[in-house]
Amino acid sequence: MSEYWKKESWKIKTQEDLPYLATPLKVIKLIFKFLNDKNLIKKGQRLVDLGAGDGRVIVYASEFYEIESLGLEINENLIKTAESEIIRKNLSGLCKIKEVDLFNYDISDMDIVFCFFLPSNYAYCSHIVKMVKSGAIVINIRWDLKKFKKYWKRSFKIKADKQFPAYLYIKK
Ligand SMILES: C[S@@+](CC[C@H](N)C(=O)[O-])C[C@H]1O[C@@H](n2cnc3c(N)ncnc32)[C@H](O)[C@@H]1O
Repeated sequence: MSEYWKKESWKIKTQEDLPYLATPLKVIKLIFKFLNDKNLIKKGQRLVDLGAGDGRVIVYASEFYEIESLGLEINENLIKTAESEIIRKNLSGLCKIKEVDLFNYDISDMDIVFCFFLPSNYAYCSHIVKMVKSGAIVINIRWDLKKFKKYWKRSFKIKADKQFPAYLYIKK
């Protein structure tokens, strides 16, 4: 396997493939309310946000649902913003952000996997879908993951916002 991540250019390339766009807070709130109403979120679970941006999802999960959350991100400015917010809210024990390539990280022990994949990412994110453990929840913002339907036991659409629907899947 080539060590592409040793070159600075890979970070720029991957952020072009998956650029920063924040999920509105109201959408995040509705997703967590949905998980809570369906009894799909419990204390002690672990959540990962693949491309965590400014950390809003991981911070919300740990602040309001007391779950362990991890953000994977490569944009150093966004990481700094997330870290300041984690410290400001005194969540360092539960909530962490790592500077790491989301496409090259083991998420097989995660219970909730939050993503914002674009259809153009689907070709190279299938290994992530396969890696998710059975029974875990995968949430993708804006774009459905129907392409991977053979992996899903159940699926839901949360019409939180016209521009930001959320698609939620439970892995078989
Ligand atoms: C669409 S944004 C989603 C931000 C956040 N999850 C949210 O919903 O508000 C995608 C994020 O993924 C990050 N990203 C892109 N490629 C990445 C990679 N290979 N590893 C880690 N993060 C990556 C970008 O820097 C960007 O912040």
